[in-house]
Amino acid sequence: PQVCWLAPEQTAGKQKPYMYTQGQAVLNRSFFPGFDTPSVKCTYSATVKVPEGFTAVMSATSWEKQEDNTFVFKMSQPIPSYLIALAVGDIVSADVGPRSRVWAEPCLIEAAKEEYDGVIEEFLAVGEKLFGPYVWGRYDILFMPPSFPFGGMENPCLTFVTPCLLAGDRSLADVIIHEISHSWFGNLVTNASWGEFWLNEGFTMYAQRRISTEVYGLAYTCLEAATGRALLRQHMDNTGEDHPLNKLRVVIEPGPFSLFLGVNPDDTYNETPYEKGYCFVSYLAHLVGDQSKFDAFLQAYVNRFKFQSITADDALGFFLEYFPELKEKGVDSIPGLEFDRWLNTPGWPPYLPDLSPGEQLMKPADELAALWAADGLNVEAIEAVDITAWRTYQLVYFLDQVLQKSPLPKGNVERLSEMYPKISKAQNAELRLRWCQIVLKNNLEAEYGKVKDFLHSQGKQKYTLPLYRAMWGGSESARALAMETFSATAPQLHVNVQNYVKKILGLEAAE
Ligand code: BES
Ligand code: ZN
Repeated sequence: PQVCWLAPEQTAGKQKPYMYTQGQAVLNRSFFPGFDTPSVKCTYSATVKVPEGFTAVMSATSWEKQEDNTFVFKMSQPIPSYLIALAVGDIVSADVGPRSRVWAEPCLIEAAKEEYDGVIEEFLAVGEKLFGPYVWGRYDILFMPPSFPFGGMENPCLTFVTPCLLAGDRSLADVIIHEISHSWFGNLVTNASWGEFWLNEGFTMYAQRRISTEVYGLAYTCLEAATGRALLRQHMDNTGEDHPLNKLRVVIEPGPFSLFLGVNPDDTYNETPYEKGYCFVSYLAHLVGDQSKFDAFLQAYVNRFKFQSITADDALGFFLEYFPELKEKGVDSIPGLEFDRWLNTPGWPPYLPDLSPGEQLMKPADELAALWAADGLNVEAIEAVDITAWRTYQLVYFLDQVLQKSPLPKGNVERLSEMYPKISKAQNAELRLRWCQIVLKNNLEAEYGKVKDFLHSQGKQKYTLPLYRAMWGGSESARALAMETFSATAPQLHVNVQNYVKKILGLEAAE
C-alpha cells in the first residue's frame, strides 16, 4: 500500500491515473526487496514499462525512453534505499535552469515554470559555494498530486514537492532550498539510523538557512526561523516537553529484554529533529564563533563523510577533531549544554540562536497581534498599520502570534477576517493553514467551510494533522466537522496520514 495508486479524480487534471512511491522512512520495503535501512548505500538501475500516454520518472542520474513505452533509469552514485523513488503519470516538463527542469501534470506546468524559472540555479550555486560540489548532476522538481503528504521529498536528482508550493509569488521557496540542502546533508552524508534523523534534518535546516541568508538576507531568514521556533513550541506544548520523541536521539529498537515495543521511524517526523536539531547545529556554530570557520567545517564534514552513513557520535567526534582547541576546552561537557544532554534529554533546546536580526520584520507583527488581542479594539491604531506590503512569512508570523493569543475577545476574529481579506481569503497554503487554526481555536463556525475546503484541496501531513487535532480538541460542531471531513477525504490521503488522523479521532489505526 505504500506504493500509492491514485485514481484520475485524485490528480490535478482529473483525466488519468497516477502512481508514485514514497520511500522515507521505511516504506520502500513494500516497493522492492532490499536492505531498507539508511546505513546501507548502493547504486541502482530500473526498467519501467508504462501504458501509452504515461511518463515515468525516477530519482536517477540518467534515463532513456526506449521503444514500447519503456523507460530505463540508472543512479550512478550510491544512495540509501529510502531515496529510490518512482512516479508515473500524465506529466510533462519545462526547463527552468541550466541543470533543472520542472515536471508536472499538463494543467500545472505553466504555473510550475513561472514559479521557479531562473531561481533554482542561484540556490544550487550558493549551496555549492557553501558546502562543496553538487554531485548529483541534475536538480529537477516534480510537482505531485495534491494528496502528496510532504512539503517536499529530497529524492536525488528529482525532488518531489506538494503543488501547494505554487503560490504564484515564489513565497514558499524555502521548501525548495530545504530539499536542495539535502543534496549535501542527508543524501551525501546520511544518518545511519532513523533514531538519529536529526542529523539529516537538523543539519539541513541549518544549511537551508545559510543559503537563505545569502540569497534573501539575515533579517528575512531570522523571521523564517522564528516561525520554525513557533512550530517547535506548538509541538512541545502538544506532546509535552518530556515526551521521548522530543530528544534528538530517539530509541527505535527495543533492547533484548525490553517490554517496550520500539518506535516506528515514521513517528519521528515532528518538529524536534528539525528545529531542535537546528538549534544544536547553531550551538556548534556559536561555539566556533566565526561563521566562515563554521562554513568551512561544514564543507569538510561533507567531504569527510560523503557517500557514507554516520552516527551523531561520528559527526560530533569529527567536530571536536576539526576544532582541537574546542575539544581541549571541553565544550562537549559544559554544564547544562553537554552534547550528551542535547542528544539524550527531551525538552526545549538549551540554547537558542539569536534571531534578533529579524526584529525589524517581527516587531510590527507582534505589535499588531497585541492590538487584535485586546478587549475593545483600538481600531485607529489597527488601521494605521498597513499590511499590504508584508511578505508571506511576516503574515505567517503575525498569524502564529494571533493563534497563540486565541481565543480572542468576542467579535475580534470576525473583524480581523473582514479587515484582512488578504489573510482570510488567502490561497497561499501556509496562510490558509494558520487561518484555519485561528478559525478553530476561536470556534468561528461561520468559517468552518474554509477548514473543510482546505482539507479537501490537499493532503500534506503537516497541514492535515494540526487541523484534525484542533477540531478534535474543540466544540461538538468542530468534532462533527472532523468526522465529516475525514470520511469524505480519507481515500485521498496517504495511508500513513490516514492512520495518524484515525489515531487523533480515536478510530482504529493500523498499528
Ligand atoms: N525528508 C523530508 C520529508 C520526510 C521526512 C519524509 C520524514 C518522510 C519521513 C523532507 O526533506 C522535509 O523535511 N520536508 C519538509 C520541508 C520543510 C522543513 C521546509 C516538509 O515536508 O514539510
Ligand atoms: Zn528535510
